[in-house]
Amino acid sequence: MKILLASHNAKKIQEIQEIFDLPGVEWVSAAAFPDVPEVVEDLLTFEGNATKKARELALATGLWTLADDSGLEVEALHHAPGVFSARYAGEPCNHANNNAKLLRELAGQTNRAARFRCVAALSDPTGRVETVSGSCPGRIIEEPRGTKGFGYDPLFVPDGYSQTFAEMGNELKNKMSHRGQAMRQARDRWGPLLARKLDKFPT
Ligand code: IMP
Repeated sequence: MKILLASHNAKKIQEIQEIFDLPGVEWVSAAAFPDVPEVVEDLLTFEGNATKKARELALATGLWTLADDSGLEVEALHHAPGVFSARYAGEPCNHANNNAKLLRELAGQTNRAARFRCVAALSDPTGRVETVSGSCPGRIIEEPRGTKGFGYDPLFVPDGYSQTFAEMGNELKNKMSHRGQAMRQARDRWGPLLARKLDKFPT
């Protein structure tokens, strides 16, 4: 049974595979379908974008497709960068520039509260979609720390910890992260269904 992961981000794909850990499933990256156009993430919610990505790629490939959309919401910035997290400092996605912009926007700000959010969407080959979500509260520190992970990881310290996501590495990060939570829900909710190798969601 093949399931398409709607992402080109190798680190993200690795994180999802580690969490999902479904025997008998061959995960295929979107990179395996160079002719299928990239889905434009132009909706204003994580749920909208994850649903759109999963549905469009499932319809284009005929495969069950798992997509996620995630980002950082910062309280003092009215939940920015949100769905614009990847392109906060402009296109194309540049993590160093995004982090520098975030620190500029928060200069002098004492409220550093933030949370990562993730919505995972599974589409069957007919385009019917279900979603689950996860969120991880924490705070933005003043200077980047750590070299593991990606994106805003060097600036984000989850509640109850003193290390940034970029200092702790995938194994600990996955236990609490927004994506970890969403993917464990995804595994619990959809794993048994996918193991039955159905051609669509049961009605
Ligand atoms: P997308 O879900 O691939 O659209 O990711 C959106 C952006 O949110 C990424 O490019 C990162 O900037 C940020 N992001 C999402 N999840 C994480 C994470 O686990 N760590 C750090 N940054 C993240």
